[in-house]
Amino acid sequence: VRIDLSKPGIPVSPTLYGLMTEEINYSYDGGLYAELVRNRVFKDDDKAPVHWSVVQDAGGSAAIALDHRFPVPATALTTSLRLDAARAAQGHRVGIANAGYWGIPVKPNTRYRASFYARTAGAGGVPLTVSIEGVDGKTVYAQADGGRIDGEWKRYSVTLTTGAKVKPTTGARLVIATESPGTIWFNQVSLFPPTYNDRPNGNRVDLMQKLVDMKPRFLRFPGGNYVEGVTVDTRFKWKETLGPIAQRPGHPGTWGYRSSDGMGLLEFLEWVEDMKAEPVLAVFAGYALNGENVPAGPALQPFVQEALDEIEYVTGDVSTKWGAQRAKDGHPAPFKLRYVEIGNEDGFDKKKTYDGRYTQFHDAIKAKYPQLKLISTVNGKDWLGQQQKVTSRVPDLVDEHFYYTPLQMMHDAARYDSYERKGPKVFIGEWAAQEGEPTTDLHAALADAAFMTGMERNADVVEMSCYAPLLVNVNPGGVQWRYNLVGYDAQGSYGSPSYHVQKMFSNYLGNVSLPVTAQKVSTQTWQEAPRDETPQVLPPARDVPTMFFSATRSEQRGEIYLKVVNAIGSAQTVQVDLAGAAKVAAEGKAIVLSSAQKEDTNTIAEPAKVVPVTSKASGLGKQFSYSFAPYSVTVLVLSTK
Ligand code: AHR
Repeated sequence: VRIDLSKPGIPVSPTLYGLMTEEINYSYDGGLYAELVRNRVFKDDDKAPVHWSVVQDAGGSAAIALDHRFPVPATALTTSLRLDAARAAQGHRVGIANAGYWGIPVKPNTRYRASFYARTAGAGGVPLTVSIEGVDGKTVYAQADGGRIDGEWKRYSVTLTTGAKVKPTTGARLVIATESPGTIWFNQVSLFPPTYNDRPNGNRVDLMQKLVDMKPRFLRFPGGNYVEGVTVDTRFKWKETLGPIAQRPGHPGTWGYRSSDGMGLLEFLEWVEDMKAEPVLAVFAGYALNGENVPAGPALQPFVQEALDEIEYVTGDVSTKWGAQRAKDGHPAPFKLRYVEIGNEDGFDKKKTYDGRYTQFHDAIKAKYPQLKLISTVNGKDWLGQQQKVTSRVPDLVDEHFYYTPLQMMHDAARYDSYERKGPKVFIGEWAAQEGEPTTDLHAALADAAFMTGMERNADVVEMSCYAPLLVNVNPGGVQWRYNLVGYDAQGSYGSPSYHVQKMFSNYLGNVSLPVTAQKVSTQTWQEAPRDETPQVLPPARDVPTMFFSATRSEQRGEIYLKVVNAIGSAQTVQVDLAGAAKVAAEGKAIVLSSAQKEDTNTIAEPAKVVPVTSKASGLGKQFSYSFAPYSVTVLVLSTK
């Protein structure tokens, strides 16, 4: 391998590596968004209070049902949960219980914030208790007096604190109970554990930490399919995700479950802020997943205005209508915004209307915000062979998506080596090598790393990249997409080998990409697999390299990051020649991700089976030979100081 330091190299985009997110696999509700109560506003099902159960201790008798008759005034809380306590007395309590998203996580020495709206039928003064207790009803982990409720809807909140000796479990539920007979209505029942940066409507700490550790430069949100909606009416209507959560009706998501919209537009932006990243804002562009299509022209104009308002909400100062709304919602300072994506995967639009729709958005946004870089979601031919192109305008970037098998992804590591240099820059807005479920295995991670070496070598074309999907709740029922980056249940989380690759590449990235040439690299064979049952003429089998390389230099740190992927099960020794280098220290650092089998992976039970190991590397210099472990991704940190 020859790394040519006599050439200036090419600048690496400071926003090369980021994250992509949408509500899929219980990414927010039941995932990053820390709310623990499932179906807190009783709208998950029209007919039954799903995820809720009645509590009837010995001697107590009660029933629960949905009730649409008594909305909480001046809120979006229109459906309540009615508890009819036919028989209750001291020592014979009745109540309502929620077991969360596959369990409520109980941890020692932890403060939870519970809150709910409640009212009784009469004048009342009915006392309630709130507790986190075992699903068997026997163990009480934390309990508090919930207040005395009366005939008016009011919001009650209590703090529940677990003791030092509590053993962590997910076998728990939230219970609100009474020892008085009668009828009680509840709404927006909520339970929050501590959140990242203590944000009141915030995010789960362990997951946020994993994301922060990746040092993402941007977050692409709110989708994916989620921004589009199954129908135009169920698109991500950002205006309905603002303000107090009692004002948010929620909406049907695109992946088979309802979204609470607790993760609203401002929460996305604060998430970005907490990661010290920048937003890549995807706006609805008039096309929904069921094929519904708003044609360019007057019919599309309200949606264009919706996008302009959204940009104003993100960036406007408090003298603007939507900037003032953001200040009212709690964030007076505008957010920095440089990238806006128009739609998502519009190549699937069978009517091929994207060129016109894109143009209308492009002209309106550029007229008001000429500094914004606009991203088209089509680029001729995408991973499923959809063909469409924006020809009426020149987008700043095109978003390309790739979901491939590991060998196909390794093959495509060379994709950008011969890519058209004259057109827009590339945003690889969704991609993953797919093997291993529900989070990908080492083989997939090797292929991801191979593909990323291609991004780094071609940093003049590839401006941004983000893997997808990012998050998955690994419980049965939590998984809508089979191959994902970070897995979790109610209590714990882990990064897949692919997660560690993302982290390694992002943490060790210079500002200049150096020319790298490799010789005598052995190959393995890749035969494309048919995508479905239809008879297909497949292309002949192709040779795919077994090793992949990239090198970037940090001028600030005086370091070179040589990234090497060895995709096969035996060690390979490489002669490295840093041509034209003034000085390379004999000692450096090696960060190595590897494992014995390429199918090896991480899980909730074994979260650290395949993780990078950092060690001192010696024998380095302007020319050196290095043995790369079987099935490995290595970052060699070379010091030029
Ligand atoms: O990442 C999962 C889905 O894949 C996204 O929602 C969509 O954009 C793509 O088809």
